[in-house]
Amino acid sequence: MTNNNIAIFASGSGSNAENIIRYFKGSKLVSKVLILTENPKAYVLERAKRLSVEVIQFDLADLHNGVIFEILNKHSINFIVLAGFLRLIPKELAEAYNERIVNIHPALLPKFGGKGMYGIKVHKAVLLGGETESGITIHYVNPNYDEGSIIFQAQCPVLQCDKPETLAERIHELEHEHYPKVIEELLKKL
Ligand code: GRF
Repeated sequence: MTNNNIAIFASGSGSNAENIIRYFKGSKLVSKVLILTENPKAYVLERAKRLSVEVIQFDLADLHNGVIFEILNKHSINFIVLAGFLRLIPKELAEAYNERIVNIHPALLPKFGGKGMYGIKVHKAVLLGGETESGITIHYVNPNYDEGSIIFQAQCPVLQCDKPETLAERIHELEHEHYPKVIEELLKKL
């Protein structure tokens, strides 16, 4: 489908959000991108300003009191991308956007996922676990952390000399390479 309106939910830095916005700039597939964050201090707010993309800051309660639906409806959002969004998606929202809401996780699910497994903690756990390989997982979102069905995975080596930060960097590169392309393929099928 052309003319998709995408909402990107991000709680932090927003490098994936920025990368996705740049990727779809000028694309016929995407008419509008909106950024949503619950974190008033998120660096993604700066990025949005720089990119001249509309950003809406909401309260956590808005995920449950209907306000989030008002925002999404007002902007005719038909596809949601989670990019470093740290909150659980409520059942009603996951159901309303069934197979139209995706997340990216910085490890090879089902390993190293679940509550509390985000950011550098994931990479620390991968290194502590003695893994020789890590990667990214792009999956549909359901109301449990990191449990929706897997759409795509890509692998990278874990090196003996890796620290959580160096592994995080390698994983970020993989995310930036693949997340927009996977989203593009999903949009084409809508
Ligand atoms: C990414 O590593 C992603 O896998 C995870 O949160 C991180 C967000 O990074 N869900 P950024 O804010 O896009 O830089």
